Amino acid sequence: MEAKKIRSICCIGAGYVGGPTMAVIAQKCPHINVHVVDINPQRIADWNSDNLDELPIYEPGLSEVVKDARGRNLFFSTDISKGIAEAEMIFISVNTPTKTYGVGKGMAADLKYVELCARQIANEATEDKIVVEKSTLPVRTAESIKTILEANTTGVNFEVLSNPEFLAEGTAVQDLHNPDRVLIGGDQDESGLAAIESLTEVYANWVPREQIVQTRLWSSELSKLTANAFLAQRISSINSVSALCEKTGADVDEIARAIGSDSRIGPKFLKASVGFGGSCFQKDILNLVYLCHHFGLPEVADYWEQVVKINDYQKKRFAKQIIDSLFNTVSGKKIAMLGWAFKKDTNDTRESAAIYVAGELIQDLAEVHVYDPKVTEQQMINDLVYAGFGTEEEVSKLLFVYGNAYDATNNAHAVSIITEWDEFKELDWKKIYNQMFKPAFLFDGRNILDRKKINEIGFDLRSIGKGL
Ligand code: UDX
Ligand code: ADP
Repeated sequence: MEAKKIRSICCIGAGYVGGPTMAVIAQKCPHINVHVVDINPQRIADWNSDNLDELPIYEPGLSEVVKDARGRNLFFSTDISKGIAEAEMIFISVNTPTKTYGVGKGMAADLKYVELCARQIANEATEDKIVVEKSTLPVRTAESIKTILEANTTGVNFEVLSNPEFLAEGTAVQDLHNPDRVLIGGDQDESGLAAIESLTEVYANWVPREQIVQTRLWSSELSKLTANAFLAQRISSINSVSALCEKTGADVDEIARAIGSDSRIGPKFLKASVGFGGSCFQKDILNLVYLCHHFGLPEVADYWEQVVKINDYQKKRFAKQIIDSLFNTVSGKKIAMLGWAFKKDTNDTRESAAIYVAGELIQDLAEVHVYDPKVTEQQMINDLVYAGFGTEEEVSKLLFVYGNAYDATNNAHAVSIITEWDEFKELDWKKIYNQMFKPAFLFDGRNILDRKKINEIGFDLRSIGKGL
């Protein structure tokens, strides 16, 4: 069976994954029409905005890519039916948050959006389609998608592929342009292999073929969860050691350098921090944990769950250190927080450590004064409310948001660095010190500051994984 040459793609879901991925496919494949659809009209309007600074997602380099392709072969709209009807290949890129209700609450992925997409594709399709799961999904979801598709149509053939996305936010465009590998899983029968080849040809427009890894469907799905679990495990491992460093006077960065130069371990993802965040790590590990329980493997489930528990511990430990250092009471005190996004160069705040650190401080009645270069005040409030730290009215009383770091730190009792934005390294720390209450505490949750310089200024500096 010949692999079909793809000329039209539709992507359902214009979020952090769908938006940048489709923009790069359109940029690199001018012969393919790429139509990105979403139920959220505001999101689509923002993607279509004349002002490229207003794209709904902030990613370095993304506006240039969108500028190249938009209107040529990249289109954004809310017309999902048309998108499905016209496309030979359909990517499902909708959100799959952790379930907040019912069976699997707090652990399993909520597949309602994916299921809705599958039903809509089934209803609208009048010709054969290749359906690609792009969202992170539990293993064997492709099979459920296939069941829904096949039960709802007459005579149309659907091939379902798994093509997990490995881009990291903040470096999405770079990761999409030069991926370590592209993973494509599909059925190993004749039509499945042909569909895998069709998608391989799309990526082969810019990715060397030897970097395109073809697997069976379930291996591809499980690889995504495993990759994220391994990456998060490294961070929890180094963060667990950071706690021990603080007690013993060892330096966690020195340890990371020492162990990272062992080529079997490698240097990446060994940066101790206030805790990992983002939409993937926690969600995917909890998903893995749920799967293990489902398949009767409680020991394996407990093993991976510990990675999340150490991360929760790290966030709480950081907040507790602030409270303890400020003589065990922060009530009415002003604590400045620099950074709210879960990492630098993104406006995404999902599962950011900032939410939990701020939440703990607010519960102890501290005033939290925040500056982040890309996150809005409303987003911060929503995050705190969603995480259960109070109503909008309650959190608004103790949360204050500023347009720069100097205003946020004025008259503060303590400053904490939560996100490693480059601009925080360049701040006039002497000026900040001078406008703070003394003793001036500085909690470096990312170890981005030069300790010697900061100590010389006079700060009482506490860094993750470093003794006093
Ligand atoms: C991650 C995976 O890297 C990516 O392949 C997958 O597709 C989605 O999930 P992302 O969540 O965007 O990407 O960011 P990542 O760079 O992995 O960082 C995740 C969190 O870990 C951030 O909060 C980051 O600050 C933290 N981190 C990362 C550390 O604390 N220390 C490190 O050494 C590395
Ligand atoms: P991710 O990080 O996985 O890309 P996002 O939340 O950033 O997640 O994006 C998912 C997008 O999918 C959102 O813009 C949401 O409006 C969209 N979406 C969810 N369900 C549907 C649906 N049934 N049809 C079209 N779009 C959907």
